[in-house]
Amino acid sequence: MPKSSTRLWGGRFAAEPAAVFLDYSQSIDTDVQMAAEDIWGSQAHVLMLGKQGILADAEVREILRCLEEARKHVESGTLELDPADEDIHMNLEKFVIRGAGAESGGKLHTARSRNDQVVTDSRLHLRNRLLDALEALSDLQQALLERAEGQERTVMPGYTHTQHAQPISVAFWLTGHAAALNRDQARLLAVFDRADACPLGSCALAGTSFPTDRRLTARLLGFARVEEHALDAVGSRDIYLEALSALAILHAHLSRMCEEFVLFSTYEFGMVELSDALTSGSSIMPQKKNPCLAELARSRTGQMYGCLIQALTMMKALISGYNRDIQEDKPPLWEALDLAQQTLGAVAAMVRTMELRTERMAELAGANFATATELANWLVSERGLPFRKCHEIVGSLVKRLIDEKRPLGDAQRVAEVLGELGVEAQASELGFLDPLRCLERQRSLGSTGPRETERMYGALARQLATHRKAAAQRRERITEARAQTAAAVQRVLRGGALAKLDL
Ligand code: ARG
Repeated sequence: MPKSSTRLWGGRFAAEPAAVFLDYSQSIDTDVQMAAEDIWGSQAHVLMLGKQGILADAEVREILRCLEEARKHVESGTLELDPADEDIHMNLEKFVIRGAGAESGGKLHTARSRNDQVVTDSRLHLRNRLLDALEALSDLQQALLERAEGQERTVMPGYTHTQHAQPISVAFWLTGHAAALNRDQARLLAVFDRADACPLGSCALAGTSFPTDRRLTARLLGFARVEEHALDAVGSRDIYLEALSALAILHAHLSRMCEEFVLFSTYEFGMVELSDALTSGSSIMPQKKNPCLAELARSRTGQMYGCLIQALTMMKALISGYNRDIQEDKPPLWEALDLAQQTLGAVAAMVRTMELRTERMAELAGANFATATELANWLVSERGLPFRKCHEIVGSLVKRLIDEKRPLGDAQRVAEVLGELGVEAQASELGFLDPLRCLERQRSLGSTGPRETERMYGALARQLATHRKAAAQRRERITEARAQTAAAVQRVLRGGALAKLDL
């Protein structure tokens, strides 16, 4: 049979691929990250083909033997990958064909396409990487909760519009971030569960006429279910878009924390001091201590959003089925996962080691009329006036105190001015003008009051434990499935009959 191209798909080609084509289109550098997954996928596939009687036992054995060899090469980092073979799938298939011969090795790709193969590999890889991200996120949550513990009565200013608003506690501030991250955790777990469906067996786009068992391969790969619709399974990447969206939202949250670290560690605010080990100096100004880690994490949010936009744009207007465009799904996805992992580590390190300047926090909380709202509330409940009226009275009072350069904590003066404004009040009644007393009065559900904050702290700690457990269970299922596939492979290699194999 005359053949003009040495590619595995060379039959209908009269020429070798040009260098410009190969350079532009090969995906080896990205694919190496999922070499182990590709081998696992092939093992599951070929075991299924044997079990279904589509391949003979001897053929399955030969293929598995070569896949084992490839696996060892991958593990020791000695697998040679030729970019001329485009991707990891072709490289590994060629490896098997070289080792098992064209007769047996050539049957590995029965009832399979690179289209279902690649999305199976990347989902396997994504599952692991999501679990890594979840673990790093849990560690950050833990760090926030540890720093929040026992700080329900440590006052600091709470802000709206970056202006002093009302006193809050340090525990309330930190658990506020933990509450947002708790949703990130739920989002990432949901993405994991959505990705936990096996596309393998969809073949190129239309399924196959071979009597395959897709449920068996899904089980061997530790997937919770089969991604059924073949055309959808090979051509859709919305799950990766979802992963990228969840990571982008997470990074937005991390950037907000970093912004606070930058701002709160300034001389002007002075409420937080970042560890010397996590900051850097100036080459000219000897006194400087710069919050570079927080600044860089803040900045890299742009890189993260870029990954999402890149992937969204890649998917736009693609017709049904596989399009080569979607080879470009993996670089932004891997990049985003790497970045999330790094940023989570950096932010957790800052949270664990930052010094909380509680004296300065208290000073700021008491300095700028932050208890004015509570005074208006007090006038409503103790003097029976409508809130809008009380708002006006306290507004006029604040204006007077600003002119007189007196703080709202000056209960004596406050009582006098209130009297002039037509409201009777004794200084002894106004203890809540102190930020801590004010804080202690807050009692609505979800408020900064110590009781509510403590309750929410407990709920967040419980949810963190639940999320950790959910991730660990998923990790365990993957490990078990991998061990079961490996055990089945060993049984076949030792001469076990496929028909008798309990899979
Ligand atoms: N390298 C390809 C990718 O990552 C594998 C699938 C190729 N399929 C094809 N029909 N050319 O998407």
